[in-house]
Amino acid sequence: MSHVQERTQHIGEPDISEIEQRTVRSGTITGPASMVIFGITGDLSRKKLVPAIYDLEHDQQLSPEFDLIGFARDTSDLDDVLRDSVIAHARTPFDPGVWARLRKRIHFVQGSFEDPTAFAALGSRLAQLDLLRGKPANYVFYLSIPPSAFETVCDGLAQVGLHRQEHGWRRIVVEKPFGRDLATARALGASLERTFEPSSIYRIDHYLGKEAVQNILALRFTNGMFEPLWNNRYVDHVQITMAESVGVAGRGAYYDGVGATRDVIQNHLLQLLALIAMSEPATFDADSVAAEKIKVLSAARLLGPLGRTSARGQYTTGIRDGVVLPGLTDERGFPADSATETFAALTVGVETRRWTGVPFYIRTGKRLARTTTEIAVAFTPPAGGALVSRTAPVQNVLVLRVQPDYRIELQIGAKRPGGDMDIESVSLDSDLGSVFQPARAAYERLICDVLRGDATLFPRREEIESSWRVIDPVLEYWADAAPPASYEAGTDGPDAAARMLTRAGRMWRPL
Ligand code: BG6
Repeated sequence: MSHVQERTQHIGEPDISEIEQRTVRSGTITGPASMVIFGITGDLSRKKLVPAIYDLEHDQQLSPEFDLIGFARDTSDLDDVLRDSVIAHARTPFDPGVWARLRKRIHFVQGSFEDPTAFAALGSRLAQLDLLRGKPANYVFYLSIPPSAFETVCDGLAQVGLHRQEHGWRRIVVEKPFGRDLATARALGASLERTFEPSSIYRIDHYLGKEAVQNILALRFTNGMFEPLWNNRYVDHVQITMAESVGVAGRGAYYDGVGATRDVIQNHLLQLLALIAMSEPATFDADSVAAEKIKVLSAARLLGPLGRTSARGQYTTGIRDGVVLPGLTDERGFPADSATETFAALTVGVETRRWTGVPFYIRTGKRLARTTTEIAVAFTPPAGGALVSRTAPVQNVLVLRVQPDYRIELQIGAKRPGGDMDIESVSLDSDLGSVFQPARAAYERLICDVLRGDATLFPRREEIESSWRVIDPVLEYWADAAPPASYEAGTDGPDAAARMLTRAGRMWRPL
């Protein structure tokens, strides 16, 4: 997040005037480095990573001394695969000249994770690139692979000394899932730290790379009007919603047995909660921001009893816009008796002086009526007064919409024209997405930050473990409970989710 962080002179840092000019222009250019992607043929690499790297090159944000190395078992069609993935998924238009410039800096190493000679070949390739550059470079190892392979790859790197920081920095990037509960997350964290220093490990939560998410702290701490109200005296409750209209077809291998809570609440949605509830850090560097988020996550607890304050569901066949949508167990890759939840809703409390008594309602689901991610901070209506006693109470709600559109909305009560003092809820609405066009994709920002060594947007091990500590009790509770309730695809989720709030005299915002 911080653009003013100290610039460290790394070995391999060029003093090329072109780079300096670009740095002055953008302030975000990456340092020189070789980035090795393990899992370059996978979905994430093709849909997000390689297109993001192309976009960075397109916008002249990549150092000319950046190289990409794709490590894969089979590299025969990779050239076409990567080109097609850029054409299909890059944010910026495909420009053959830009692609040619980048393609010259893309190299492949063929081999399997279990094969020590493949790591030796990787080491030789990297050394060769350093020789061509005339100086040793920095290395990023991006593990876009299942966590079960992390240890093998770390061992392979260590065996050929690629983790050593003698001739430049070494960073490792890992993608979720970071375990399936606190115990496995701890084991995974420990295993990574056996090879890499904690400060060299970058854990991706792509939500933190979204502009609308970064704007949460900007909104809260640069506008004087919010902070005085941002506590249990004035906030009635908070709703965090991540609804998706898509299902999980084709993702059975990953999603079955994982479910919505582990997939997005443990990471994205608890990170949103932390950003909403944290106090202002002393500075906006990675350590200070992480310290404040950790305080919130360590104070977060599920509010119970869980049978009434949480809900889960699984989509069944439904109809949306006249189209028949299959149920989860009809999707490819899911067994007929799958008990995986595709919808989850929880009530979280943050037991601090600022937040005790304010429920944070979190919900997420697949195949819902529409796609939307938003945070709604609902303020306590005024308790009395001459006008309030004559009209229905107005609840001010501040909505931070993350997607599909990036906007901020404030709901206020206003007088309806006419002779009576009739009050209606109206919305002050700002479409920040069009004010600030064009935004960079989350992965562009995060890849840039790894290369620049700014870890502010990467959750620390403590944040990940605290988040598991929050959700573990409900995962254990569900493990012994009846299977998830069903809800029809294309709807707002199971009835139990609605009951969670109506019991407390509240309602979910419409999707
Ligand atoms: C991923 C989840 O982390 O986020 C997916 O694994 C989910 O299940 C995706 O669909 C949503 O990301 P976004 O950026 O489209 O909201």
